[in-house]
This record gives sequence, structure tokens and C-alpha cells, in this order.
Amino acid sequence: MIEDAAQSPEPGCITPELRLKLLNMPLARKLLGLLCAVVLFSAHAAEKKLTVGFSQIGAESSWRTAETESIQSEAKKRGVDLKFSDAQQKQENQIKALRAFVAQRVDAIILAPVVETGWEPVLREVKRAKIAVILVDRGIKVADQSLYTTLIASDFVSEGRMAGEWLAKKLDGKGNIVELQGTAGAAPANDRKKGFAEIIQKHPGLKIVKSQSGDFTRAKGKEVMEAFLKSEGKNINAVYAHNDEMALGAIQAIEEAGFQPGKDITLVSIDGVKGAFEAMVAGKLNCTVECNPLLGPAAFNAVEAALAGKPVEKNIVVKDEVYEQSVAKDVIAQRKY
Ligand code: AHR
Repeated sequence: MIEDAAQSPEPGCITPELRLKLLNMPLARKLLGLLCAVVLFSAHAAEKKLTVGFSQIGAESSWRTAETESIQSEAKKRGVDLKFSDAQQKQENQIKALRAFVAQRVDAIILAPVVETGWEPVLREVKRAKIAVILVDRGIKVADQSLYTTLIASDFVSEGRMAGEWLAKKLDGKGNIVELQGTAGAAPANDRKKGFAEIIQKHPGLKIVKSQSGDFTRAKGKEVMEAFLKSEGKNINAVYAHNDEMALGAIQAIEEAGFQPGKDITLVSIDGVKGAFEAMVAGKLNCTVECNPLLGPAAFNAVEAALAGKPVEKNIVVKDEVYEQSVAKDVIAQRKY
């Protein structure tokens, strides 16, 4: 109808109003066209979800499960298409997952690296594909810092120091300690060992009599503690576990050996999971140093900033706190993981 009107009128029949209308018609059509284009473009943009690959270590602890849930629920909240890969504790599976994410042309990758070393070749491939990498919870050792955008994690050395300081005070600077280390080569195992040792060395009466990996799992923690109890028996005054899960396994081993965990043997561990608070309320665990696994919001903030070309801090440090047995029953209800 608009086109007919534009093509047919006799020049003599054109009123000033109609002339104005006619003059405006091409502009109106242009504006309408532009509006349609904007609407279509926005609809397309809304349809094109952000795709993010998440390479997770596994499910060795309730801490890890809480971290997975945090990232998955945040992705859902933001309408992100999350491609999740569980590496079952193997770096080679994580490397395969990263390559698969590159082949799928994801927009960004969230990586929780199982160990610190061995990432350069695959991260160079990711960089060549122009995909941003956000490291969560564990750091890596690479010469080229541009291979990842940011690391969002707790300060594990400081966690080890906090556990050491608490234990040195509790034991009044005297006693034999056994240490349950995390996964060999993992940043939290290396750093928590380092921070704790730093403090213990300052107290000549404190000795780490045994130290072995329990792989961050409850079963392994129990197994290693059984071996420690066999060889050291009553000689053990305290357990330092690199995570709560191993401490919970050690508690079982201590009870089965006829000792009272939390009384005959003092236990301090790291994570602050619900199970640790329950053990503290039951008097079986003495202290836990929190390590917050709820990294989903910070991880996706970093993804979005990186994709928008905005600056992202290289190290985003998560703050941790010490929780003693005496406060456990007052705070247990507020624990989120
Ligand atoms: O990297 C964080 C550590 O890994 C947590 O302390 C532990 O529970 C997890 O398995």
C-alpha cells in the first residue's frame, strides 16, 4: 500500500501533507528496515549462548563436588552452555579435554589443574585458537604467563601456615606430628606442606615424624593413617591433613586402633567442609582451615571480562579463615558446602 501510494499520484493531486508523507516514506522504510535488523541481530545474539569448557580434576572430595556444583549452577544462572569434563584425577584426561574444547571452538575454558607442571604444550594450542583460560583453585608452573588469563584460588602456603600456627599453639610447642599430604605434584599439596613446615621449624619441640600422600581422598587418608599408627602408635600426638577428607579417613583409622580422635590425637586439616564441622561438633576433629570452593561467580566474572577485552587481575586470591572445634556448633548451620 505504501509502495502504491508512492508510485501512483498525479503531481496536481499532491497536497502539502501528502508530499510530506511521501518524502518521509523512504526514511520510514529505512528506519523500519534498521529496526528489523537490530531486532534480528539481538535475537541472534541472544540465541548464540556463550560456550565454556570446564575441565575438572574429578570428585575426590566433597570440597571438589562443591566446586563443580558452584561452577555448574553459575553457568546455568548466566545461560552459559557449559561443556563439563571429569578427568578422574588424570592430567592426560585434562589435556585431552582441552584439545576437545579447542575442536569444539568454545569461547573460554575453565581449568582446575590436577598438578602444577606439564601444561605448556596444550596451553599453547589453546592460545593459538584464541581461547581464554581461567584457572580455578590450583595454580600451574609455566614460563609464559600469557598462557592463562587469571588464577582464582586460595593462598595454599598461607593455609599451611595457619594450620601450623594453630597446632603449635595447641601442642604448646611440643609433640610428634604425622602429615597426610595431598596429591603428589598438586599445588595445594606442595604449598600446604611448605607453609606448615615453615612454622613447625620455628619450634624445636615439634617434629614431623611421618609424611605421606593420601591423595586428598578419605580412603587413602585412612589407609596411610593405619600405616602411621602401626609404625608410630602412641608416639603420635597430632595429625596434619592437607584436606578434611583425609582427616575424616584418619579419624576412622584412629578409632579402629582404639584411640580417641580429637583427644588422644589432635587433628587439624584444611577445607572447612560440612563433614569437618560435624566431626568438630562430635569432638573428633580439632580445627579446620577454610578453603572456599564456591568459585563459580568469580570464574564467570573473569570469563565475561576476558571476552569483553576488559582487564582481569592475574591472581584473584580467595580469603580463608581458621575454625576451631569450640565455634563449630555455632556456625555449622551457616556452612554452605
Ligand atoms: O585444590 C583444592 C584441594 O583439592 C582441596 O583442599 C581438596 O579437598 C581438593 O581435593
